[in-house]
Amino acid sequence: MPHRPYEIDVMISAKAIAARIEDLAREIGREFADTDKLVVVGLLRGSFVFIADLVRELDMPVEVDFLEASSYGDGMESSREVRILKDLRGQIEGRDVLVVEDIVDTGHTLKHVTEFLQTRNPAKMRCIALLDKPARREVDFKADLIGFEIPDEFVVGYGIDFAQRNRNLPFIGKVRFTDPA
Ligand code: IMP
Repeated sequence: MPHRPYEIDVMISAKAIAARIEDLAREIGREFADTDKLVVVGLLRGSFVFIADLVRELDMPVEVDFLEASSYGDGMESSREVRILKDLRGQIEGRDVLVVEDIVDTGHTLKHVTEFLQTRNPAKMRCIALLDKPARREVDFKADLIGFEIPDEFVVGYGIDFAQRNRNLPFIGKVRFTDPA
């Protein structure tokens, strides 16, 4: 199906993201000050740029692992039914874990993923999301750390896609359709 034409307006600049990540890394350092080696779990695919920048600001031993949950597919609406498509490679039982997500939207994904990971009995688990769209929440879920709260807009860039495009933009942009429909 051909795409409706759209343009992308900058919402959060690369510079603003980098500055916020420094603050977040400091908070994570405080939260996990007593941790021997933190397991940083990125949710594929949207968090791959965020996790790459975040771990490079962390001044502590970290292990990086990835989990993939089903998501939007090619559309702009959540499927609401979350499935684990790719499991972790490592063990998290008794470990300190930081789950890294790109956006909390309806909340279904992170609620499901954190419940799934809790069944493996981590010692301590916290959740960080770069973006939060609280106006869209459908289930009771709150990330422990948030980069930016944003309005109900469809965004792309910095790892986040629209139908597998625009992940490589260095900033967060807002999708604006340019056709009359
Ligand atoms: P949730 O389960 O509705 O909270 O959705 C979380 C996932 O939906 C995110 O990890 C993204 O993959 C996707 N998502 C939510 N909002 C957007 C958006 O504005 N642009 C692109 N993907 C989004």
